[in-house]
Amino acid sequence: MLFAATMIPRGASDIMDRVPAVSSAFASDNAAPAHPKALDAILAANDGTTTSYGDDPITARAIERVKETFDSPGADVLFAFTGTGANIIALASAVRPFHEILCSDIAHSLLDEAGGPTLVSGASLLALPSDDGIIDPALLTHRITRRGDVHHSQPRIVTITQSTENGRLWQPDAIAEFIDHAHDLDLLVHVDGSRVANAVAALDVPPAQAVGDADIVTIGGTKNGMLFGDAILVRRPEHFTGIEFVQKQIGHLASKHRYVSAQFDAMLADGTWLDAAAHANAMAARLSTGITHLGLHLSTPTEANEVFVDVPAEALEVVREHFAVHAPDPHKPAVRFVCSWATTADDVDAALRALAQAQDRII
Ligand SMILES: Cc1ncc(COP(=O)(O)O)c(C=O)c1O
Repeated sequence: MLFAATMIPRGASDIMDRVPAVSSAFASDNAAPAHPKALDAILAANDGTTTSYGDDPITARAIERVKETFDSPGADVLFAFTGTGANIIALASAVRPFHEILCSDIAHSLLDEAGGPTLVSGASLLALPSDDGIIDPALLTHRITRRGDVHHSQPRIVTITQSTENGRLWQPDAIAEFIDHAHDLDLLVHVDGSRVANAVAALDVPPAQAVGDADIVTIGGTKNGMLFGDAILVRRPEHFTGIEFVQKQIGHLASKHRYVSAQFDAMLADGTWLDAAAHANAMAARLSTGITHLGLHLSTPTEANEVFVDVPAEALEVVREHFAVHAPDPHKPAVRFVCSWATTADDVDAALRALAQAQDRII
């Protein structure tokens, strides 16, 4: 039965106090609070009336900031409320229903967007085998065999993720090679940059190098510390005509746009976005080192802000008494710990204690 707030009986808060707290510190980077820089930017933007739907000076400044940060002077920039929305807008504006969108076998667009990209675009999504989300360029050649065959969906765009869903990095030379190869095959390239800040910080390269020559990039704000909001950097607008209509159709054209864009302007302006990401990466490195010292097995190498450790089901119960953690594949023992700008060394040490407690069931 649901109680309205006013119906909670006396003493209920004592009961709540006795319920063991399960921490969300590692559930996802979107479990983190909003970064003060983002909140301050929202407050600063909250000054009088302004034009709606993105036609305001704050959004104009944020657009320039995103273009400058990613060294893309000729690009268009749009903002969406969520990463899923940003991916759908990017992919759906590139294709027609007879097209095929290629992606990795662990792509968020494939597994975690409830079919949104296919629903909105009508195109099919084809998964390619990958090493933690890193796709061998040769697979593209292998897959593109029926161009012009009226019976077959026509490959149009490939989407890759930086850093990947398994917390791996596309190295700059690898992403450059992959994208060049895709372009040679007449494919467009989308980079899902939901965690691109973590990749840029970890690779320590200019942002443009972390995403190579991608035609369109979604840039995560929410996971980086914003209250909400992801950007879409459209580097070759001629291939994404009508993108602003898709944004509107699926409800991502914020009327009070300045509150989304102000956060990007502020966090990118002074490098806060990269400081926040570097901190998340450092906490992941601390956790990963601690896990190795415990003698546990990392499911994938830790390269950005996500740590994957093998924890069999019976031990996972113990960990989950303390921490909400995600096990992405029910057929594999890999359990994910995600660090954010707000993760503390104490959080990491508490996670290591929980893993140590579960350890006798792991080894
Ligand atoms: C790689 C990747 N892309 C996109 C998204 C979508 O972000 P949102 O949850 O804001 O829709 C996520 C969220 O987990 C993600 O991990």
